[in-house]
Amino acid sequence: MTDRPKVVITRKLPGVSAARIAEKAEVVAGGAGPMPRNELLEKVRGASGILCTLADRIDAALLDVAGEGLRVVSNFAVGTDNIDLPEARRRGVRVCNTPDVLTEATADLAFALLLGAARRLPDADRFVREGAFTGWDPWGFLGVPVHGRTLGVVGMGKIGGAVAARGRGFAMRILYHNRRRLPEAREAELGVRYATLEDLLSGSDFVVLTVPRTPETRGMLGRDLLRRMAPDAVLVNVARGGIVDEEALAEGLRERRIFAAGLDVYEKEPEVHPGLLRSPYAVLLPHLGSATKEARRRMGELATENLLAVLEGSAPPSPVS
Ligand code: GLV
Repeated sequence: MTDRPKVVITRKLPGVSAARIAEKAEVVAGGAGPMPRNELLEKVRGASGILCTLADRIDAALLDVAGEGLRVVSNFAVGTDNIDLPEARRRGVRVCNTPDVLTEATADLAFALLLGAARRLPDADRFVREGAFTGWDPWGFLGVPVHGRTLGVVGMGKIGGAVAARGRGFAMRILYHNRRRLPEAREAELGVRYATLEDLLSGSDFVVLTVPRTPETRGMLGRDLLRRMAPDAVLVNVARGGIVDEEALAEGLRERRIFAAGLDVYEKEPEVHPGLLRSPYAVLLPHLGSATKEARRRMGELATENLLAVLEGSAPPSPVS
């Protein structure tokens, strides 16, 4: 028997120092891939800390199995929709995440998707690889312009603000929608104008989603709202699946009401809606928002700090409020 706390690290993660954690705790670490649910349930029994990813569902059943000694769930992600926050709070379990360190990487990816979808880059790349490029074509792969157009950002948090900054670099007019309107001084600083979701959708050439998935944002962009999008507009989602109705989006692309979509996230990851897979106008990425070497390393370092701070009884750098 040991009186050292037990910490479960659900898989190998960049920047996470199992050795540092092992100075304070008995570490039970997963392998290279995600830990199967039954194994996770077995391993968390009696744990004081869990360092997990967005692929691990931390729900009431798991919290029950972990037991009363569980003090911290440190998520290697900024989103916390994989964690039942009210249940964690009810049990006095601190939940921490990794904001800030991934803001710029995620905003870069949003813009990569925006540009890639506007100028049809993946489809054109496939064309070249297939040997179909037989010479310059005045009609080939016509896209939509980005410079000087209107960008609508749904969710004006840190990532939304970083997307807006990139939009300013492209001389875009920027609308935003947010649960709470920002103070005017902040709007002026960001160069953004508040709009209702309806007005943002009908008035934007590019709509970028950066809202977290919560009960309020789930299904936020259903069929009716998607129909309000301007003709030739592009939708980009770097937030979470389940916020957009994928069936309605695939239909909009098929009927050419929506010019293109750039998606990094899906409702039932890793499944992708077949209508999206079929569309040459959908640019599809495997959830890469924070996937730069630097961001992922810093996420791991922050997740490690958060976990150790709670175990040591001090304030973690990024608790989820
Ligand atoms: C990634 O999707 C994250 O929430 O960090």
